Amino acid sequence: MVKLVIKGGNQLKGSVKISGSKNSCLPIIAASILAEEPIILRDVPFLSDVKNMISVLEHLGVEVNKDEDSLKIQSNHMTRGDLPPYDLISKMRASFLTAGPLLARQGEVKLYLPGGCEIGTRPIDLHLKGFKALGAEVDVDHGSVYVRSGCLTGERIYLDFPSVGATENIMMAAVRARGATVIENAAEEPEIMDLARFLNSLGAKVKGAGTKIIKIIGVDELGGATHAVIPDRIEAGTFMAAAAINRDEIILENVITEHLKAVTAKLKEAGAVIEEIAEGKVRVDGRKCYGPLDIKTLPYPGFPTDMQAQFMAMLTLAKGTSVVTETIFENRYMHVNELKRMGANIRIEGPGAIIQGVESLSGAKVRCTDLRAGASLVLAGLAAQGETEVLQVEHLDRGYSRLDEKFYKLGADIKRIEAEERSDTSMSLR
Ligand code: UD1
Repeated sequence: MVKLVIKGGNQLKGSVKISGSKNSCLPIIAASILAEEPIILRDVPFLSDVKNMISVLEHLGVEVNKDEDSLKIQSNHMTRGDLPPYDLISKMRASFLTAGPLLARQGEVKLYLPGGCEIGTRPIDLHLKGFKALGAEVDVDHGSVYVRSGCLTGERIYLDFPSVGATENIMMAAVRARGATVIENAAEEPEIMDLARFLNSLGAKVKGAGTKIIKIIGVDELGGATHAVIPDRIEAGTFMAAAAINRDEIILENVITEHLKAVTAKLKEAGAVIEEIAEGKVRVDGRKCYGPLDIKTLPYPGFPTDMQAQFMAMLTLAKGTSVVTETIFENRYMHVNELKRMGANIRIEGPGAIIQGVESLSGAKVRCTDLRAGASLVLAGLAAQGETEVLQVEHLDRGYSRLDEKFYKLGADIKRIEAEERSDTSMSLR
């Protein structure tokens, strides 16, 4: 069992380099299935979700070679089109992003229904609705789904909700469909734009990504490309929230500020000073960041649900009462009970959480229940008095590249303990 042990109260200072985006990288790795020639991906983050996605591709006969933060992916000898092992799929909802490219490339796909964070029901009905609109037949049976189509044909598809994954899966299927596909009420996240940029560099014709209407003209074949993944806006936001909860000043490198508008606006409202001091370099001064705030999670460009837990940790120490409303996932408050163990004063009322700021948090044994919940506990631990043990760190490792090492380098007293029975082990173990 791996855990993090944090002694709170250390000052954070210096610079941290933000890694490539998890949510950009996963669909792009899946989209590599479409390429007839080699793909080179750069700025790939070191994450267990990325490793799992690579394993899914390898299971399909795709050749993947890793070199530091680059991947070389060759799909031209792909052999199988169905059912990577259940344990791989159940670990990660994003594995279902292989459905669109497999359908486009092989005309059929069989996959287990996806797993992922336990933050709600997270259905895939919109993905399947999109595939059906493109002419595919869909059978869902005993926990697996079989989608097949002789030939996909472009169509107008209206998404009832701007689902990120459904927009991506439909885009990836439609790039090889016959004729034009229009996705209406599409997700507008920066990761959608990055995927479109990648697909276009392979020779696809995708327009409008980053807006509510995406138009795709199908092409007959897609070549290879070299692509650098965009920086992770959620990792950047997490470090910004860390500066705020600790009331410290840090510098973030490799940031696209445009992607962080909602997060930045809320931090500024709480009293933080945030300025871009050079291209991609942001100074975050949280010394006067006392809140409180009202926050509602929304699809991009609204406040990201993936930052809700970290902001809630920050607001536990605000001066006054904050209200957080989660509108994207129905079960995304599992960090609340853990934060309460540390002395936070939080009350859940329906989709809302009311947070009464307290003077201080105190270290406790807490457990990551999902990826971003885990990040919120690390932030709380950094600011708390005494020692915090964060258990079930595997959730954090799914989506943060060396989070503990990065905080350690900023001055935090944080250690990764690899096993209960072993004594203290150092950062160098990773
Ligand atoms: C992606 C991100 C995740 C982020 C989420 C919302 C990746 C790998 N993950 O997840 O970090 O929290 O966007 O920003 O990019 N829904 C349906 N039917 C569907 C699909 C989704 O009802 O077919 C619902 C979900 O249950 C959820 C909401 O739509 O309530 C948002 O889900 P979606 O945007 O699809 O999130 P993911 O793509 O799974």
